[in-house]
Amino acid sequence: MKTTTVIGAQWGDEGKGKITDYLADIADVIVRFQGGNNAGHTIVINGKKYALHLIPSGIFRQKALNVLAQGMVIDPFALDEEMTMLNNEQIGLDHLVVSQRAHVILPFHKTMDTLIESIRHEKVGTTARGIGPAYTDKAARLGLRMIEFIDPKAFAAYLDTIIPYYNTMFKAHGIDLIDKQTLLKQCAPLQQSLAPYIKDTSTLIHQAIQADKHVLFEGAQGTMLCLEHGTYPFVTSSSPTAASVPINVGIAPSCIDRVIGITKAYTTRVGSGAFPSEINDDIAKTIAIKGHEFGTTTGRRRRIGWLDIVQLKYAHQINGFTDIALTLLDVLSGIDPIKICVGYTLDG
Ligand code: IMP
Repeated sequence: MKTTTVIGAQWGDEGKGKITDYLADIADVIVRFQGGNNAGHTIVINGKKYALHLIPSGIFRQKALNVLAQGMVIDPFALDEEMTMLNNEQIGLDHLVVSQRAHVILPFHKTMDTLIESIRHEKVGTTARGIGPAYTDKAARLGLRMIEFIDPKAFAAYLDTIIPYYNTMFKAHGIDLIDKQTLLKQCAPLQQSLAPYIKDTSTLIHQAIQADKHVLFEGAQGTMLCLEHGTYPFVTSSSPTAASVPINVGIAPSCIDRVIGITKAYTTRVGSGAFPSEINDDIAKTIAIKGHEFGTTTGRRRRIGWLDIVQLKYAHQINGFTDIALTLLDVLSGIDPIKICVGYTLDG
């Protein structure tokens, strides 16, 4: 098998980073294919903790090429921060590439994310990282791709279109308006520093598969947060499923071989929305503390529930898992009885 895809089988935070890190040993290429810095995982290497939100954990292994693919939305400020942190730790970055077609999150996308949440009757509980607004702009054909971001002329032209569009809404809500010159000045150093990493990643991945290299696709979030198949509208704005890999990476669907579903031995969810097996008792508190169930990105305490087999079967239906990796089983040590949700009833 030439490709392995790691998919969150629940609502995210299943421990995908750990499994990716384990599989990274045999990977020649590691690819993030959707989402942005709403994701996050902490990696401990030689006793030192590293928090990554955009760059795959494979960056610590100098042999694998690490790719941020076109299906991602990338905040250049956040990416620069992560790269600087790695540089300061003497971790080389010459095996990192970023898709020229990946869309860009700018500060006003974050402002819009917060504004929309404040207006909504039922809050999604987003990470406020600008993910939804950046994907909205992409679908509305108002987005900015990396290749245009690093081109000063194209970037200035984009700002001339997008600033009046956003400022109309910001003005109506009494929010500070976007200033073109300030933004140009803030972005100029990033345009320069990121330019060498921007590549046609679809062709690079295609060539790697053709050359019989092992490619690992790392999903962020989880199946139930999928825009298409999740608990809409309490979802993220991308599709963290196996079927989304080809379109978000730019390879043929027939290239998807092994699909590993990652599930915890219990369930967690961050943010609002349905959670049939949720518990709110002392056991939930114990699991949260023992499992360190606090978000890497926002620090929020995750909601806790029992393992939900109905939900997992649905995730399998969507993704066609060839393997399952069960994580965090040890967190349930000492809890008796351990419950598993095997069916739902509505109103009795
Ligand atoms: P957004 O992706 O920031 O727009 O947030 C949409 C929903 O997805 C919210 O409920 C978030 O809490 C959730 N979410 C986004 N990223 C993650 C993640 O990496 N783990 C768990 N939940 C996430």
